[in-house]
Amino acid sequence: MNRRDFIKNAILNLTLAGLSTIPAIASSVNLNKVSKLNNKESKMKKIILVNSSPRVNGNSDNITKILAENLKECEVLVFNMREKKCNPCLACGVCQNKESAKCIQKDDISNIIDKIDTCDALVIATPIYNQQINSQAKLFIERWYPFFNFNNKLYSNTSKYGKKGALICSFWGSPVDITSKYAEWTVSGFSQIGVEHTKTLIFPQIPNKGDVLKRDDYITQIKELAKWLKE
Ligand SMILES: Cc1cc2nc3c(=O)[nH]c(=O)nc-3n(C[C@H](O)[C@H](O)[C@H](O)COP(=O)(O)O)c2cc1C
Repeated sequence: MNRRDFIKNAILNLTLAGLSTIPAIASSVNLNKVSKLNNKESKMKKIILVNSSPRVNGNSDNITKILAENLKECEVLVFNMREKKCNPCLACGVCQNKESAKCIQKDDISNIIDKIDTCDALVIATPIYNQQINSQAKLFIERWYPFFNFNNKLYSNTSKYGKKGALICSFWGSPVDITSKYAEWTVSGFSQIGVEHTKTLIFPQIPNKGDVLKRDDYITQIKELAKWLKE
């Protein structure tokens, strides 16, 4: 069963069951650039970089910094989750079947829903915890439920399709082949916000803070990703 059918079946089952239902980074966000994200006339690519790691100066932290440094021509919003108020989805359903994405919660993810809707690309840099993206990254993705619209292309009510999306996984010794497939599956779900072009970067053997900086091969891949995001 493909992802679309899986979601379709899940929704049908819910209905049948009667359920209607940027220091480190963020503080280094350039406020001018952030405000430009709201400027509809701007021609610069709008890119959101999400760092879900709680670890200051960790690998995801460094990856996000390198990406931001290589996206100077773009309007970059760095969303450093550990410095933000990020609530889990309440599954209240208030956001469903709406023409545009809105969440009733009052937190920093709700505050950037509009920016997620109108960005050109969104990247999540996450550590692998217990063989999966960490719970912060998952929480962030689950907050895209306001974009869900069963009747639309990609089941998304986004005002902008054709986005790029990327998932960058830093970890220690989890199996690379399984993690790669898992990452591809996870990033395919970025379709919810209108992502139609995806990439994954899989960085094993970097358990300690800043290990990624010792890996020229990984840094090259991060820079190549930045290049792709700018195209
Ligand atoms: C709670 C926890 C669970 C982890 N689970 C795994 C795991 O399943 N597989 C793995 O390879 N590394 C695992 N690690 C190691 C981290 O993925 C690794 O340290 C990574 O570099 C952290 O990224 P960061 O520096 O961006 O936070 C785990 C670390 C923590 C703290």
